Amino acid sequence: MKYSIVQRNKIIYEVNGLVKVKKYNFNGIKLYLNKYTLIPHPDTFQLIQIAIDVLKRNRRIKVIADVGTGSGVIAIFLAKKFPSKTFIASDISMEALDLAKKSSALNKLKNVIFLQNTNNIWLSEYKNMKIDFVISNPPFVGENEFNDTKFLQAYPEVKLEPLSAIITSGDKYGWNPYLQIIKNTNKLYILSWLFQCNSENIKFLLTKIPKIAKTKISVIKDINGFDRFLLIHKY
Ligand SMILES: C[S@@+](CC[C@H](N)C(=O)[O-])C[C@H]1O[C@@H](n2cnc3c(N)ncnc32)[C@H](O)[C@@H]1O
Repeated sequence: MKYSIVQRNKIIYEVNGLVKVKKYNFNGIKLYLNKYTLIPHPDTFQLIQIAIDVLKRNRRIKVIADVGTGSGVIAIFLAKKFPSKTFIASDISMEALDLAKKSSALNKLKNVIFLQNTNNIWLSEYKNMKIDFVISNPPFVGENEFNDTKFLQAYPEVKLEPLSAIITSGDKYGWNPYLQIIKNTNKLYILSWLFQCNSENIKFLLTKIPKIAKTKISVIKDINGFDRFLLIHKY
């Protein structure tokens, strides 16, 4: 397969060129994007900013998992900012991983490892690895919402995105990735979790998460004032 540094409109896609990132004065990164990768959403840059804050405040975090990395935007951005930390970026899509690896090389990064999830169970690819911080922007559209004709009318751009980035099979409400990640990371002695969500997910997830012992949970709003991010710390 031939790759080029393109967005769908054939121009170089510079993450740092987006207004919200410029505001925080990040170093620029270049990403390859194609039909197998989601175009990073503006909210994801806010997720990255929250992650930077967590990493600056908590020096114990050495190994970070970017689960469902897609284009690799989260891992690549953070790996450039924190060269002494190790990032393990995973995805179920080998095509997306292939491209993310190329973007990592394009940015001359040596601290990102890529892994494929081959069996659909969230986090199974990390097996017994030692991870300190889990970051994920998983597919969060439920099948019920996706199959409602109003959904594609409201978000026609979704038709151009890879389906595996939008929904996961059998997930009626868009909750499964979060619940599986939380359940499966609980065995791995994680210090922090950071998720990009929608408001409905957050309301539901908040009713489930207190089951993880000794955690502090923060809900962070996006720039439009909607509950969007969930940050969970173990103390
Ligand atoms: C919403 S996209 C996020 C992409 C990128 N992290 C971003 O923020 O722009 C979700 C990603 O999760 C991947 N994915 C879906 N199921 C997965 C699974 N079971 N394990 C790992 N990744 C998965 C999809 O292929 C997709 O790349």
